Amino acid sequence: MKLLVFLLLPYLSLSEVFTDFSQCSRTFLNNHPPQFTLLTDNSVKHICQCVWVDIINRQKMYLYATLYNTTGRIPIYSAYVFGSPNVGRCDPWYIEPQLDLGNNAESCMSPQGHKRNIGKYQTVNSDYDGSGYDRGHLYPVQHTDNHLSMLATSTLTNAAPQNPTFNQITWKKHEEDVIKDLKDCKGKAYVVTGVFPDTNIQIPKYDPRVTVSKYYWRATCCLKNNKFTGQGYFGPDNNGKVQQLSITDLQEKLEKDYKAKNIKINDNIIIFPSVPSGHKRPLNGCN
Ligand SMILES: *[C@@H]1O[C@H](CO)[C@@H](O)[C@H](O)[C@H]1NC(C)=O
Repeated sequence: MKLLVFLLLPYLSLSEVFTDFSQCSRTFLNNHPPQFTLLTDNSVKHICQCVWVDIINRQKMYLYATLYNTTGRIPIYSAYVFGSPNVGRCDPWYIEPQLDLGNNAESCMSPQGHKRNIGKYQTVNSDYDGSGYDRGHLYPVQHTDNHLSMLATSTLTNAAPQNPTFNQITWKKHEEDVIKDLKDCKGKAYVVTGVFPDTNIQIPKYDPRVTVSKYYWRATCCLKNNKFTGQGYFGPDNNGKVQQLSITDLQEKLEKDYKAKNIKINDNIIIFPSVPSGHKRPLNGCN
């Protein structure tokens, strides 16, 4: 049975907005997405963020994953493999055609251009115009190390309305601190960045559509000095600062704020591919 499902999968899932993250599971530690049991509602979409490498030959590349709330038109989290140093920046903003137009629409992010009927299930650039909020990235440009990933961060499903001062100063500085912190990682560093919504505030004012962020959070995990080491962050706190906390405490905070149970950002164990099969090690510092 398992084999059959495995064989059918590539034919069933030719698009980018999925019911799970199996097409982009490499984005996650141990190939396992975070567990967010609150989010079973079908307004929550799994986006394997992709760009076309060669559109004529239908070659695309999956670069990271976003869990997206189409009701509040705000992401829940984006998960990515950290990279540095960044190679540049450009600022066109993309939309996700399939969220509004269904799975027959063009897969992969694309400029809105003159496409019609975009916006019912996602935010568009005009939502931000004059709103007083920035498009705050979850997966930030400065955590990418190649051109395609850099471009791919510039999609509106990877952004939420964020206070401009916090975005441009405090959270940016935090992102730089993360770069320094992850420098000593051996192998890949996995990052999950989320947004907790402030359901009382929506933009734009005259036609409230998009829920703004109350705070951003981030969890990192990598191998350092032979130990899996994780670090949690969230901000702004009540004083407009970024706080550091353990992954366990971050999970508890999210459970409390979401009024949910069993939020788990990382898997429990890591399986070492390079060690004789069956060797598993607890992930202490990352959960
Ligand atoms: C999605 O957004 C709506 C509107 O802000 C909110 O009421 C709901 O709780 C959100 N769902 C999740 C799973 O975050």
